[in-house]
Amino acid sequence: MISGLHHYALEVPDLAVAKGFLQDFGLETREKDGALVAQCPGRDQEQVRLVQAPVKRLHHVSFTLRPGTLDSVHEALERNGTPVIEPPAGAAADGLWLRDPDGTPVQLLDEAQAPARMAAEVLANVGGTRQRVGVAQWQRATEDVMPRRLGHTLLFTPQREQMTDFYTGVLGLAVSDRIKGLVTFLNAGPGDHHIFGFISSSHPGFHHASFEVPSIDAIALSADRMRSRGRDAGWGLGRHTIGSNFFHYNPDPWGSWIEWFSDIDQIDDCWVAGDWDVPPHLWGAPPPETFLRNIEARG
Ligand SMILES: [Fe+2]
Repeated sequence: MISGLHHYALEVPDLAVAKGFLQDFGLETREKDGALVAQCPGRDQEQVRLVQAPVKRLHHVSFTLRPGTLDSVHEALERNGTPVIEPPAGAAADGLWLRDPDGTPVQLLDEAQAPARMAAEVLANVGGTRQRVGVAQWQRATEDVMPRRLGHTLLFTPQREQMTDFYTGVLGLAVSDRIKGLVTFLNAGPGDHHIFGFISSSHPGFHHASFEVPSIDAIALSADRMRSRGRDAGWGLGRHTIGSNFFHYNPDPWGSWIEWFSDIDQIDDCWVAGDWDVPPHLWGAPPPETFLRNIEARG
């Protein structure tokens, strides 16, 4: 029933700090109903909403629904005993609202995803293919480096299986793969390997959100931009194991992470989920010690 991730929302202590950080990351920001919202250049869809509050905390997650599935969502919620709730303060009122098993408010929007900003073909001379002939890549690689769309977000949870059962059994997502005892990745059907997922932890929290950029060059150039603006170096460049995407993460001002990705696996209806005992990265430096630290306030 869920067709994709629409946006995520955090409570943060300082909207001005948030605005500077998200702009350095490559998003466009504006004030809306007292909140700060951020979008990808060239995409008409809110991707991040930040609400002023004393401490950083996950505020809600928002998804779009496949056309014509709203009635089956209502039926599934009723069957599961999940009540519909009022929108939390600071959120847009539209759509259907409920709480997941961790108590996080979830917005379900009966609308389509806005198209991602168009990207030019990236021609490569790799493996046995020779696509780029007579063109100097270094002169083209800097042309389009900004985020095109929000791809996925991962949350900390103390009850990974219950959360997985809820989002698959009630809201229609499917398990793409697992990392043994630690992470579950979920998909919304053919397309990106994961749009959502959970990392086992002592308590709920926001771990990271990830935005697609047009190329591996765009990831590295964006990381350079953040560094040149005095931001912490973060983790990357690397290629993930599960999902296979190139990545670079930057720490956000509140102890969680934001990621650029490119070249993520695309799954089809025949995809078979595995339970893997692998590190998170295929190559690149190992993650910083703080990468899986959940410092989000409880309750
Ligand atoms: Fe990610």
